[in-house]
Amino acid sequence: MPRPLRVAIVGAGPAGIYAADALLKSDTAAEPGVSIDIFERMPAPFGLIRYGVAPDHPRIKGIITALHQVLDKPQVRLFGHVNYGTDVHLDDLRSFYDAVVFSTGAMFDRELRIPGVELDGSFGAADFASWYDGHPDVPRTWDLSAGKVAVLGVGNVALDVARILAKTAEELLPTEIPANVHEGLKANKAVEVHVFGRRGPAQAKFSPMELRELDHSPNIEVIVNPEDIDYDEGSIAERRKNKQTDMVAKTLENWAIRDVGDRPHKLFLHFFESPVEILGEDGRVVGLRTERTELDGTGNVTGTGRTTDWDVSSVYRAVGYLSDELPKLPWDTVSGTVPDEGGRVMEGEEHMASTYVTGWIRRGPVGLIGHTKGDANETVANLLADFAAGRLLTPSHPEEDAVVAFLEGKGVTYTTWDGWYKLDAAEKALGESQGRERVKLVEREEMLRASGAID
Ligand SMILES: Cc1cc2nc3c(=O)[nH]c(=O)nc-3n(C[C@H](O)[C@H](O)[C@H](O)COP(=O)(O)OP(=O)(O)OC[C@H]3O[C@@H](n4cnc5c(N)ncnc54)[C@H](O)[C@@H]3O)c2cc1C
Ligand SMILES: NC(=O)c1ccc[n+]([C@@H]2O[C@H](COP(=O)([O-])OP(=O)(O)OC[C@H]3O[C@@H](n4cnc5c(N)ncnc54)[C@H](OP(=O)(O)O)[C@@H]3O)[C@@H](O)[C@H]2O)c1
Repeated sequence: MPRPLRVAIVGAGPAGIYAADALLKSDTAAEPGVSIDIFERMPAPFGLIRYGVAPDHPRIKGIITALHQVLDKPQVRLFGHVNYGTDVHLDDLRSFYDAVVFSTGAMFDRELRIPGVELDGSFGAADFASWYDGHPDVPRTWDLSAGKVAVLGVGNVALDVARILAKTAEELLPTEIPANVHEGLKANKAVEVHVFGRRGPAQAKFSPMELRELDHSPNIEVIVNPEDIDYDEGSIAERRKNKQTDMVAKTLENWAIRDVGDRPHKLFLHFFESPVEILGEDGRVVGLRTERTELDGTGNVTGTGRTTDWDVSSVYRAVGYLSDELPKLPWDTVSGTVPDEGGRVMEGEEHMASTYVTGWIRRGPVGLIGHTKGDANETVANLLADFAAGRLLTPSHPEEDAVVAFLEGKGVTYTTWDGWYKLDAAEKALGESQGRERVKLVEREEMLRASGAID
């Protein structure tokens, strides 16, 4: 009797779940069948959809509903609260599975190397997003005492951070934010949020819809300085080539020429201001120094030497995410990703047998949830080609019970897909008691208990 192809997926974010979906939809799923185990370090699945996507984006959070259908399939098991590198290692996975797909994404802040980043009041956007999204592994409180705040970077994460800071706690209450986050936001003193791009409007990485959304809050006045609207040949070419860039630039132009209204919270979008130093006094942020830049003809900028000090007392660095290096896998220190060819993990010129990678850990921390689907399809196509060609390693214990016995033998507490249903129900019940759709549980122990993993 041929046995099913056994695949381990490490990371239950969208990339990992789309990889499972691609495996289930392949010919191999029919004959001789596939059997997939997903290992996830958090007690709950869904990666950055749960712990990155902003709480006031319920439509995007709703992608979870589509991903549910994959995890509902009988060929897929979830082992949550299991960390690759401590609870389970590469050699363990090799002994249970024909192939391992790593889809561990990114959850940390990329470093910004300017003086002052270590000061109190200087925050990473990833840490802040983890806080407002109720991640169990970050502090429960957040210092929101600053009246004037700077956000560095002009990508969608910067927009999320600026919007959450500029909205009122009551605007965010109908979302799934946990009680500690609502309490924290009630104390938010921010009335001015200054977002800084080091290049121009045509180089902003905002999505047009996310940008326009800033203007939808009755509490946020978005302000653009007309002097910050500038394009060179490179910018013009980019606007012609890319419809989204053009839409973003047009929105910014419209905001630059309109009258400033009287909504209480001012959100300034500045361009051509490159952060050079976070200013401090007694270990705390008291300002931000930026250098004015100008376009060089190609869409890049050069410094002018003219600096401005901005009177802000918190600085959020939204200059990109960073992945965690994975034990026993090769690592590209420049891109912060696992080197690959078509999703096959590469050690120099060689494919590391039976080892694959997909999503942000493969591509780097750029792109939308939808983009991880195509990425997963490519990786899985190559995995299946290797399977068909007989290139996969043979595991010593491919039977499904073996990994369960291994985890239990090691005393690893794990959550299951059935456990997610229980946690989901518990969060919805908590929400219902407050007239809200869901309220997230934050503490790991509470999550484990609600999932039925511990008593
Ligand atoms: C703040 C923020 C907001 C975003 N908002 C949107 C949005 O509104 N719309 C949109 O389309 N895109 C959004 N994105 C982009 C989107 O989140 C990513 O494209 C997508 O999540 C990448 O998927 P992934 O599966 O590669 O990684 P992730 O979503 O990061 O998933 C990786 C998973 O692997 C797990 N993991 C990591 N290490 C280990 C380990 N050692 N062992 C076991 N498990 C591990 C993690 O816990 C996580 O669950 C946002 C991104 C950020 C950062
Ligand atoms: N709602 C959504 O759809 C949503 C929400 C959040 C995130 N996402 C996606 O998630 C991905 C990651 O988003 P992101 O915002 O983290 O990354 P991003 O889109 O790459 O934006 C990073 C920003 O940081 C700037 N930056 C980098 N280094 C800098 C430095 N040293 N000094 C000043 N500025 C610097 C970049 O400017 P330069 O261009 O000049 O380098 C850029 O403006 C993106 O694909 C994004 O679209 C989507």
